Amino acid sequence: MERLKVAVLGAGGLVAQRLQQRLANHPWFELAAVAGSPRFHERALRDVPWVLEEPRPELPDLTVGDVTDASTVADLASEGVVLAFSSLPRAQAAELEPLWVNGGISVFSNASAFRGVEGVPLVIPEVNPAALESEGAPLTHACATNCTLLPLILPLAALHEEYGLETYTMRSEQGLSGGGHAYMQSALQAGTVDPNIPGEAEKTEAEFSHILQWQGPATLECNRVMRADGHLVVVEAKFGRTMDAKGVHKTLESWAEHHALPDLPSAPVKPLSVVETIEATTHLFADGESFPLNPDPSESLAAGMAVVVGNIRCPDSTTVQFEAYSHNTLRGAAGGVIFLAELAHWKGLLSTKPVHP
Ligand SMILES: NC(=O)c1ccc[n+]([C@@H]2O[C@H](COP(=O)([O-])OP(=O)(O)OC[C@H]3O[C@@H](n4cnc5c(N)ncnc54)[C@H](OP(=O)(O)O)[C@@H]3O)[C@@H](O)[C@H]2O)c1
Repeated sequence: MERLKVAVLGAGGLVAQRLQQRLANHPWFELAAVAGSPRFHERALRDVPWVLEEPRPELPDLTVGDVTDASTVADLASEGVVLAFSSLPRAQAAELEPLWVNGGISVFSNASAFRGVEGVPLVIPEVNPAALESEGAPLTHACATNCTLLPLILPLAALHEEYGLETYTMRSEQGLSGGGHAYMQSALQAGTVDPNIPGEAEKTEAEFSHILQWQGPATLECNRVMRADGHLVVVEAKFGRTMDAKGVHKTLESWAEHHALPDLPSAPVKPLSVVETIEATTHLFADGESFPLNPDPSESLAAGMAVVVGNIRCPDSTTVQFEAYSHNTLRGAAGGVIFLAELAHWKGLLSTKPVHP
């Protein structure tokens, strides 16, 4: 299959480089351009400081373009670039993603600016894949969700199908990389972090309701913790039908089996992995075939794409408590948005030629 030419919006950020890393050897998408903020304009991509822990993979010889420049978009479209992955901050995404879409290059975004906006599907491949088709083809703009939502919604989507969700509470412990590279560096240097994450609980609750098409009472509290990567959520949920821990375990396993998308390069082997107790280091790269310890995300596209569920308890016959965990810059950001574009391409929703609205 001929690979689609894609661009990454953002050059030196954590998500921008996760995107570049995952596109280095992608079987369906070819990294053909990187466009960013003025800090790296005209710089060779190989000279942009590499901020991820894993070694920089071999990347094409590119020069960083200007993400704000309509003529850059026009040139790339005429060179056959059809898709851009956006890792822009919210305000810049609000202004610049339409510039790329209007220039003929479809945008799949990790930014929050267009989440929940009509005409821009907000989709998790295993949970609401049909929503990708709501706008017909070609699909010119789509969003992946907030990173904290993933460990919350995958298990609750599975349990909702079986038992009927009535209410839930969630408390998160979120890794530093969720705040971006500069934030993570300053927290690591200071050795301490402010646990507050303004707006995160509201965003997570709204996206949960949107994706699951569910309305009900919910209480969410989001906290930052001193861990580089990985978001953990502690959940209690009440359901309309009776349950026990064994049934919950079985429901999660069976949902994972039926909602896996094995045809897609970034699909985790099983989207949910059920364990007795979650270990933050051991379980970070689930399910690149269970729990590889130090995989190379440029080679192993499935690693870090699953949600791990543990500590399952049923304090009464309609309530479950559990913890769930996932990698925020892989499943929760770059991996998730590329996975979404794979799904769109697999469904025939992506144009293989620039689309001029
Ligand atoms: N970190 C996560 O776990 C996570 C998860 C889900 C979603 N997200 C979202 O992904 C986006 C990037 O997050 P991050 O963690 O990569 O943050 P980051 O490490 O702080 O990087 C910020 C990115 O924003 C770009 N940028 C900054 N100022 C800009 C400007 N004036 N014009 C254009 N681009 C500008 C930078 O581009 P240059 O490198 O070209 O300067 C850089 O790539 C945010 O919208 C964030 O909410 C992050």
